[in-house]
Amino acid sequence: MSSKRRIVVLNGPNLNLLGSREPEIYGHTTLADISRDVSAAADKLDLSVDFQQSNNEGEMVSAIQAARGTAAGIIINAAAYTHTSVAILDALLASDIPVIEVHLSNIFKREEFRHHSYVSKAATGVICGFGAKGYLLAIDAMAELLNRTQSK
Ligand code: DQA
Repeated sequence: MSSKRRIVVLNGPNLNLLGSREPEIYGHTTLADISRDVSAAADKLDLSVDFQQSNNEGEMVSAIQAARGTAAGIIINAAAYTHTSVAILDALLASDIPVIEVHLSNIFKREEFRHHSYVSKAATGVICGFGAKGYLLAIDAMAELLNRTQSK
């Protein structure tokens, strides 16, 4: 029987530009590269990945609402909305599934306005500063989290 648990990986504004956007901060890996690598890693962990990107806050809220009841967990890099969006925080709090927050860059090493994250208030954990590898660390952490809660 193969009914893999589905993980929604949500990417916020400007992350569609990865690879060419400020590569000295975000690296040369594209979002398509990340999507491919995360799906391959998830497959080995018996998870499936629904990888999404949106430049629109409302669309992200709707995607989080859609994950409620249909997905086992959410991995989110809300990009700039991390630092501004109470709406995304509220949707995550209502989702009732584990949330892991990812950032490519170490947001605490950067401008002061990036040090605060609304998303963190809904997240089990935060991974930042490891570039694209952070998504792979997150999928690993999510698998462990789900196995832990399932075996209880
Ligand atoms: C980011 C960090 C945010 O501060 C920024 O607005 C982004 C990307 C990261 O992955 O490092 O767009 O979330």
